[in-house]
Amino acid sequence: MAVQRALESARPRSSRLFRDAFARHFVSRRWRLVIRASRVGAVRNGVEVLYDRVAVPGPRASAVARTRLIDDLVSDARAWLGQLVILGAGFDARAYRLSGLEQVTVFEVDQPATQQAKREVLGRVLAGIVAGDPLAWHVRFVPVDFERDDLARALRAAGYRDDMRSLFVWEGVTNYLTPAAVDQTLAAVGGLAATAAGSLLVFTYVDRAVLAGDYSRFPEARRWVEGVRRRGRAVAVRPGPGRGRAVPGPPRLWAHRRPVHRPGRRGVL
Ligand SMILES: C[S@@+](CC[C@H](N)C(=O)[O-])C[C@H]1O[C@@H](n2cnc3c(N)ncnc32)[C@H](O)[C@@H]1O
Repeated sequence: MAVQRALESARPRSSRLFRDAFARHFVSRRWRLVIRASRVGAVRNGVEVLYDRVAVPGPRASAVARTRLIDDLVSDARAWLGQLVILGAGFDARAYRLSGLEQVTVFEVDQPATQQAKREVLGRVLAGIVAGDPLAWHVRFVPVDFERDDLARALRAAGYRDDMRSLFVWEGVTNYLTPAAVDQTLAAVGGLAATAAGSLLVFTYVDRAVLAGDYSRFPEARRWVEGVRRRGRAVAVRPGPGRGRAVPGPPRLWAHRRPVHRPGRRGVL
């Protein structure tokens, strides 16, 4: 995700869907050089073609589109938002880059090792930009393993308030989890959201048909699945919500396209 967001952010203002100035700090030095070079139009075209056809076929366009869609959902929610909960936050930098969120308590939920890596990078990048300790800002890091831990308890222990409307963002994560963990997390979010009417969850998932090798509805998914296999990795994406078939092997995947509905709004991830 960080490479895809950094590539998009290197595009000119007139053609990019968003700018995530943090993304390039989370990628390797090699990728940083490629991304810097891609600021030049002719180079960018080549980099994008190679990325989409050879390096990581499939997910970039939907990852970029869903990033923008969720950015818009979060920005629109600022009028009513009491708390933002980013589940499986990884290197999502919305808490630091979307204006207006500095007034909102943001809970970043992920595994401790990922949070540690993120905090090291953020500490360097935000030093000198944010007064005082940048990591004691409006963001609370909540270490949780969706497979094992009690999400609701961990959030409440970190200061989650039941009387505030919340937006939960769960982007690019369900496909890494067992169906049981997906169900448990949805149940926990449902319980938390029920205490403050109007709370919302936006999430992405991989369509079950794709896992079964049926690409009729999502032809682009074939390139992604074949690309993952070519790199010798198991396609172990999980079918997202509901009781899906658990596929053995290390979970791998990025994004997928599904309609996302919320009252009065419609978008495609
Ligand atoms: C593809 S990244 C997406 C990160 C972020 N949502 C974004 O859009 O940039 C998947 C994230 O899910 C987290 N994750 C995977 N399995 C998890 C688990 N069992 N418990 C908590 N987080 C998990 C990973 O650590 C990683 O940060």
